[in-house]
Amino acid sequence: MADLRNNFVGIKSPNPFWLASAPPTDKEYNVERAFRAGWGGVVWKTLGEEGPPVVNVNGPRYGAIWAGDRRLMGFNNIELITDRDLQRNLREIKAIKMRWPDRAVIASIMVPCEENSWKAILPLVEETGADGIELNFGCPHGMSERGMGAAVGQVPEYVEMVVRWCKQYSRLPVITKLTPNVTDIRRPARAAKNGGTDAVSLINTINSITNVDLDLMAPMPTIDGKGTHGGYCGPAAKPIALHMVAEIARDRETLGLPISGIGGITTWRDAAEFMALGAGNVQVCTAAMVYGFKIVEEMISGLSNWMDEKGYRTLDDFTGKASRNVTDWQYLNLEYITKARIDQDLCIKCGRCHIACEDTSHQAIMKEKDGRRHFEVMDNECVGCNLCVNVCPVEDCITMVELPPGSIDERTGRVVTGKYANWTTHPNNPMRKQAVEPAE
Ligand SMILES: Cc1cc2nc3c(=O)[nH]c(=O)nc-3n(C[C@H](O)[C@H](O)[C@H](O)COP(=O)(O)O)c2cc1C
Ligand code: SF4
Ligand code: SF4
Repeated sequence: MADLRNNFVGIKSPNPFWLASAPPTDKEYNVERAFRAGWGGVVWKTLGEEGPPVVNVNGPRYGAIWAGDRRLMGFNNIELITDRDLQRNLREIKAIKMRWPDRAVIASIMVPCEENSWKAILPLVEETGADGIELNFGCPHGMSERGMGAAVGQVPEYVEMVVRWCKQYSRLPVITKLTPNVTDIRRPARAAKNGGTDAVSLINTINSITNVDLDLMAPMPTIDGKGTHGGYCGPAAKPIALHMVAEIARDRETLGLPISGIGGITTWRDAAEFMALGAGNVQVCTAAMVYGFKIVEEMISGLSNWMDEKGYRTLDDFTGKASRNVTDWQYLNLEYITKARIDQDLCIKCGRCHIACEDTSHQAIMKEKDGRRHFEVMDNECVGCNLCVNVCPVEDCITMVELPPGSIDERTGRVVTGKYANWTTHPNNPMRKQAVEPAE
């Protein structure tokens, strides 16, 4: 059976599934139940400075978007960091760590961007026996207006400076949690590395307004007639998170920097995808909030079964394996030619593929044959875009099939070479480079 044990920057946990810093990890009661359910680790809900805690709104703090079946796809919140007393949180972290020595317990921290503030809190956290710290440079609402969270994460110089303080004043491993609210995620990641971080984690939430109440004429969630932007997460955020993880994993300047992947992870497959792109483990928030702590059971068994099927014995066997296949557009093979194929036995003749292709793609799907409703791809028009695959309501009814070398692409009349050729050497590219002749 696959070995799911995880070692992330020296922090060991029985599996790679950690709960992200958020309401599920807000207090001892939750974390105790999460560990009983099987979570490998938790990142405690972000701690703030000693003194009066922050105050949350007393009205709705969540917004959401749903798929047609009311499955929650995107989730938005205007919650701040913990609104519980620092000392109480520290006592609970200590108690949890003592009871669960085999699980990872990480303390997330956000204090003002001043050396003394970090210097003051780090020894208090270290004293709890926590395995590491995560620096919350990501929260995009409320705290960022006070010069913390994303306000730090968006300035690489601040990221580097704070990481450096944490490395200087603490012996614990430092995980720097990045905000996705930047144009190039590699810049804060490089800064964190330059500051000496042990790892980065990403993504925190994306700045967003999920909906507008058209009666109140105000963004939702609405507090007494007003709303504000909040942090977006959940399954809809996963593609953005995957891309950012992949960018850091393949960037020369951060190559090998451990990454904890976060963003929309709901199933074992989501987790495997993050890890295949280079994440050393994963963190989950929304899925636990929607389905409860026990979803980790499915994640553990699903990942374990898949690893057995594929012959992966340990997590390291597949971590980063997809990273080498992430490339820039210009290196994609322009000689790879596919056509859509409709399985007539599966087709329910709804016509959605025809409409999509006819109105917005390449007019390559006929809707009638011998006076009957019939949907079939015309190879002489099909560019292989796969729009029809994505709109067809029947799974696997339309598939993309590669044309074998030597066959003719009826659309262009060209013979399929089966060779690799990309845009860098393409005759239509005004910037093309001369193909280098192989040495004799
Ligand atoms: C209600 C809520 C509160 C959150 N609070 C924090 C926080 O205190 N500190 C932090 O680093 N991230 C916080 N997050 C962000 C999550 O840790 C996580 O990065 C984000 O939700 C993406 O993961 P997900 O798609 O699995 O939810 C919060 C998220 C939610 C939904
Ligand atoms: S792959 Fe694109 S062009 Fe070809 S039939 Fe489907 S939608 Fe039309
Ligand atoms: S969308 Fe799918 S099911 Fe509907 S007509 Fe096209 S192939 Fe058939």
